[in-house]
Amino acid sequence: MGTGEKTDPKHPPRIAEHVAIIMDGNGRWATSRGWPRLVGHRRGAERVREIVRACPDLGIRWLTIYAFSTENWKRSTEEVLGLMAIFARYIEREADRLSVEGVRLRFIGDRSRLDPKLQKMMAGIEARTAGGTRLNLTVAINYGGRDEITRAMRAMARDVAEGRLAPEAVTEALIASRLDTGELPDPDLIIRTSGETRTSNFLPWQAAYAEYEFSQTLWPDFTGQELAAIVRRFGNRERRFGGVVNG
Ligand code: IPE
Ligand code: IPE
Ligand code: MG
Repeated sequence: MGTGEKTDPKHPPRIAEHVAIIMDGNGRWATSRGWPRLVGHRRGAERVREIVRACPDLGIRWLTIYAFSTENWKRSTEEVLGLMAIFARYIEREADRLSVEGVRLRFIGDRSRLDPKLQKMMAGIEARTAGGTRLNLTVAINYGGRDEITRAMRAMARDVAEGRLAPEAVTEALIASRLDTGELPDPDLIIRTSGETRTSNFLPWQAAYAEYEFSQTLWPDFTGQELAAIVRRFGNRERRFGGVVNG
């Protein structure tokens, strides 16, 4: 296995069925080479292809990646526009490949602030890949966990005010179903690259019981092999969900 970890036969390795990744470090990857930040973002987008391809063999059924946060609008206009262009190009270029490979693509986040042309492309590729069953790929764009919860609460408050929803009917399951991730299972494992150990508003509700892994690798250098090693480590961790585990 290479990691020196042994598998206990009483606790067979678990599979991380839903892996979520905070793809961080593109800017530092580029500036450390004296290149513009956008070069790093371009390399980062290329990495996504390799990682998506590595998932099915690792038993990963759901992959959710953080591409642009609600806070990332604070960056320069040049960087924001550049990121949006890279994103549009990714959709254009990958549409055929994803549908052939059986990948179903979804987006989470507030789309209303995105360019209407981009919104149309997003809806188009979601419809086009809706039959994919090999991997569920979800891209978080203009996503912020607090923003997501706020939008869901506002919609539910409207339903209560207009008599469509009784306050007693508000349960954890109902809230979960009203989030952008309503169709997704909770993530088992969240990986952040680039050495930062914060979650930056990514899936705060959904990650209540997720395991975290922080990698020093900058996203443009992250490989399928490193993902495999992280997933293997996850398989040997013991998750308790608040209970106790009897040998
Ligand atoms: C992650 O890389 C990509 C986005 C947030 C869009 P960064 O651009 O945050 O890279 P660093 O953290 O500045 O190195
Ligand atoms: C988080 O990275 C958002 C994405 C990876 C899209 P940031 O680089 O924006 O987060 P902070 O600023 O370090 O918290
Ligand atoms: Mg960053």
